[in-house]
Amino acid sequence: MCGIIAIVGGEPVTERLLESLRRLEYRGYDSAGVAVAIGGKVERRRAQGKIKALEAALAAHPLDGQVGIGHTRWATHGAPTTRNAHPHTAGRVTLVHNGIIENYAELKAELAANGHVFHSDTDTEIIAHLLDAELATGLAPVEALKATLDRLTGAYALAILIEGEERLVLGARRGSPLVVGYGAGEMFLGSDALAVGPFTNRISYLEEGDFVAIDGDGARIFDAAGKAVQRAVATIPASAAMVEKGNYRHFMEKEIHDQPEGCQRTIAAYADPVTLKARMAGDLDWAALDRVQIVACGTSYIAGLIGKYMIEQMADLPVDVEIASEFRYRQPALRPNTLAIAMSQSGETADTLAALRYCQAKGMRSAAVVNAQGSTMAREVDIVWPIHCGPEIGVASTKAFTAQVCVLTALAVAAARARSRIDEAEEARMVKLLLEAPRLIGESIGLEDAIRTIAADVAKARDVLYLGRGVMSALALEGALKLKEISYIHAEGYAAGELKHGPIALVDEDTPIVILAPSDSYFEKSASNMSEVIARGGQVIFITDPKGASHAPAGAKVVVTAPACDPLVAPLVYAAPIQLLAYHVAVHKGADVDQPRNLAKSVTVE
Ligand code: AGP
Repeated sequence: MCGIIAIVGGEPVTERLLESLRRLEYRGYDSAGVAVAIGGKVERRRAQGKIKALEAALAAHPLDGQVGIGHTRWATHGAPTTRNAHPHTAGRVTLVHNGIIENYAELKAELAANGHVFHSDTDTEIIAHLLDAELATGLAPVEALKATLDRLTGAYALAILIEGEERLVLGARRGSPLVVGYGAGEMFLGSDALAVGPFTNRISYLEEGDFVAIDGDGARIFDAAGKAVQRAVATIPASAAMVEKGNYRHFMEKEIHDQPEGCQRTIAAYADPVTLKARMAGDLDWAALDRVQIVACGTSYIAGLIGKYMIEQMADLPVDVEIASEFRYRQPALRPNTLAIAMSQSGETADTLAALRYCQAKGMRSAAVVNAQGSTMAREVDIVWPIHCGPEIGVASTKAFTAQVCVLTALAVAAARARSRIDEAEEARMVKLLLEAPRLIGESIGLEDAIRTIAADVAKARDVLYLGRGVMSALALEGALKLKEISYIHAEGYAAGELKHGPIALVDEDTPIVILAPSDSYFEKSASNMSEVIARGGQVIFITDPKGASHAPAGAKVVVTAPACDPLVAPLVYAAPIQLLAYHVAVHKGADVDQPRNLAKSVTVE
């Protein structure tokens, strides 16, 4: 996924473009570039690597103008080199793009046959050539843009400069987000509210297929058919616009520590402290529902797995959880009386969005558990369940994960009550447990010093195993994912009972084994798994509670004692230790914690 910014302003634009790109860097950071309209011309500066490289290029060769576009890239077509960095130019057209043009090969062949010469390996460049060719026929900019968009198959968010049109920027969106920002005599386009946050808090979310022309006087928005339309102008909360690290070294560190407060905000929206009832927006008849289908990717998928355990145990409601990229192509046997739930921090993940649309096409009612409330998923479902955890910048998801689990926990309680599986008193007991969870999360974060020490050892490992039973088997997957994606150490999460069916062959004295084992109904079996591993020289990091610590078999390399808690909130309490372990291992290894190699915060391409 990439980040886009465009400004039609009244003051020097280059530093403003850079300020926005620094906020967008979490969306991709393989290369970056800007283009500025100057005296009827358009000039570019591009650089491989992070924004810092572009800043150096601009320091050496400044650009002075008031209208410009900028881009930070997560490479899809073409290596992450300067040659492939956006913006791309063809004739009078210079543009930036987020998305994938699926029919670019045939369009490129057609353009080459017509004499067009290409200077990059990207799909993006063909859009510039197409638009330049349409302009050459005499079409006005907006008409030429419409004719170009009609030729494209795939996903795009675009911002476009045209030489000779000094104070005009064109934009368009299909499959990738783009917002219009309204300033005082200035106008903006950006990938999200964060991009335009330094300049305005008044934005419109473009709809699928929309295209737009902005100039100093405002925006002319058109729908996919080319009809002029109005899009509502919203005032976004300051939090969505301004994100800082505070006194933390990394956004991920800050976001781990934000979890008690973040979960408090989330829980407040779904658990009533007065009536002690769980409350889910929407007019769902949980008692009449036959099934829930959760679709998601990565950490959001793992949150969905935790939701499955809880909803099935408490509400006796069947739940299927599937990786979105698999689900949508395997022709699943679906039934209409099913609620489809898309789990997504960004609300823009292409695989999850496509799986959601597949369910909707099959006649299912749909809901989304999302953080970005203006996101495409949030605007396409019947019911939105926001997670309210504020912008999450670190590519490795932490506070959004626990916030998603909070929402699914409340959902499980609400569904159990609605299906008469629990009475009012039991609902009240569970709601109280949920309301008390943020304090326990805070205590769990208090284990940081012990975990930092353990991290120094784990940082030397080649492979790490994470084991757990019940919901802890899902948390084992999350612990492994966190470690992999920010420290680059290979890790795998397994249901502890599965160890003896193969993975135990991996165990030797160089293998750290993280075992997540609260003193719940699985504890005895987890303790047996621990003994199996120790007998083979495995280095066990046993994460349990005080009761578990007093009953743990001897031989663990280290026992981490998390606060005692009810099984209902154990996933929330045991998340922090595995997040902190991954974080401190990555810091110990000097890894790029907030922007790990090859990753992006939200993958808006398939
Ligand atoms: C999580 O740490 C990863 N960054 C990644 O797996 C992420 O959860 C996944 O890409 C889904 O993103 P979404 O929640 O925005 O849909």
